[in-house]
Amino acid sequence: MSAGPVLVTGAAGFVGVHVALRLLERGETVIGVDDFNAYYDPSLKDLRAARLQAHPGFRMVRGDIAEPDLIAGIVRSEGVRRVVHLAAQAGVRYSLENPFAYQRSNLQGHLAVLEACRHGGVEHLVYASSSSVYGDRPLTGQGFREEDAAVTPVSLYAATKRSCELLSQSYASLYGFPQSGLRFFTVYGPMGRPDMAYFGFTEAIMAGRPIEVFGQGRMARDFTYIDDIVDGVIGVLDRPPAQGGHEIYNIGDSHPVGLMDMIATLERLLGREAVKVMRPMQPGDVTATYADVTRLNALTGYAPKVELAEGLDRFVRWWRDWRGV
Ligand SMILES: NC(=O)c1ccc[n+]([C@@H]2O[C@H](COP(=O)([O-])OP(=O)(O)OC[C@H]3O[C@@H](n4cnc5c(N)ncnc54)[C@H](O)[C@@H]3O)[C@@H](O)[C@H]2O)c1
Repeated sequence: MSAGPVLVTGAAGFVGVHVALRLLERGETVIGVDDFNAYYDPSLKDLRAARLQAHPGFRMVRGDIAEPDLIAGIVRSEGVRRVVHLAAQAGVRYSLENPFAYQRSNLQGHLAVLEACRHGGVEHLVYASSSSVYGDRPLTGQGFREEDAAVTPVSLYAATKRSCELLSQSYASLYGFPQSGLRFFTVYGPMGRPDMAYFGFTEAIMAGRPIEVFGQGRMARDFTYIDDIVDGVIGVLDRPPAQGGHEIYNIGDSHPVGLMDMIATLERLLGREAVKVMRPMQPGDVTATYADVTRLNALTGYAPKVELAEGLDRFVRWWRDWRGV
């Protein structure tokens, strides 16, 4: 694999900043791309970008990945051979409100990245997919496996993420540059996303506001700590499939936790009890997620290390510091 800079799209995002920091820490040069949109508090994106810009090996390009020339121009002019594509319109619930944001960032954006890789001689494209592609499945003793059917998305977000995988498969078949798609399972941790439940609950509990507990609290998530996700992303980046190959990997914790247990852990860490308002399932939400990580473990030795209580403790410490409380 050639050296040269790594292009990280969505670098001002939650997963992007942590992936880029890890790359910089091991001496790589990183070019970040992000449009700093206002889907959630952009000051958090500025804070993440400032962390990255403290490294001399980092440069941020502000712009929209769905503009076909942006990524193609960077790949061509900078000699990029490795791309970690994380920029997307995230969030399940917002996809009911603003569907065209998903069409633009996730579908057109992914296509623009594929075209840039095709024409720019990229040797490995690693891109973010999502556990949501598995649809609404009951929790059994068995984790979701990559070879399971993923044809019944229950949200537009999930449908766009599955579509990214299919677009990638067609490009692998047509043009052959190696690709790896990563199905992330509920990522959490410091510098996280305010639209996610653990973050919103923390804000509400500390402000004395009630929290809305959807699915009557009977949902379960395979919460995965950000450092474990980064281990998986970097491990895959370093191990591209052969020419023409396109592999898909789950990156999860493999220990689904009930929503009420997650809330109880947060209450203990914050030293306050939440006022809970129980609500039905939201359209687009799934009951449970549970990753089987055998495939990733076989490739990289991936083994998640940070349990939810420890990871939430690290999140809460960061949050207190950020908020100054
Ligand atoms: N965090 C999770 O639990 C989770 C779970 C499954 C999948 N994912 C996927 O992982 C990736 C990273 O997620 P995240 O949690 O860091 O989300 P995030 O929203 O924090 O990061 C995404 C970044 O992409 C940027 N972006 C969006 N559209 C863009 C566009 N058109 N042009 C340029 N930049 C754009 C945003 O400004 C943001 O900074 C996404 O593809 C997401 O769908 C995340």
